[in-house]
Amino acid sequence: MKDIETRHDIECLLTHFYSQALQDEIIGFIFTDVAKINLKSHLPIVTDFWETLLLGTNSYRGNPMAKHQQLHGMMTLTAVHFDRWLLLFHNAVDELFEGRRATEAKARAQAIATSMYLQIVR
Ligand code: HEM
Repeated sequence: MKDIETRHDIECLLTHFYSQALQDEIIGFIFTDVAKINLKSHLPIVTDFWETLLLGTNSYRGNPMAKHQQLHGMMTLTAVHFDRWLLLFHNAVDELFEGRRATEAKARAQAIATSMYLQIVR
């Protein structure tokens, strides 16, 4: 297995993650029924986000905290949802990649999920 090296790698990772997340019994409905995301327009945005974090491209110009705060207003997010999100993300990384950036992706996800949880849920 290889490490995460390009934008295309990040697209593969996220396509894999959302293929699991959208049909997940615990968090799937949040994407499909609550936020009703359009994967085609959502994917490039989250790809920019992870590309900025892992490859330093500076392509993401959004505010994830505000987005999830808004989501929390539409349906109460709990630790169960965050734990599930993280498990699916970690699994998606481990199923496709290994190496320094793969490890970094999991660590960043963990750190951001924790700070998101503390800021918007507690
Ligand atoms: C309980 C866990 C989570 C759930 C259920 C969730 C769900 C969602 C949903 C439904 C959206 C679309 C919002 C919209 O466009 O209206 C979204 C956007 C996004 N999420 Fe999450 N999310 C979770 C945790 C995380 C974490 C931990 C991260 C980062 C490590 C993250 C990164 C993002 C990003 C970058 C966007 C795009 C924001 C933008 O449009 O600029 N999410 N999330």
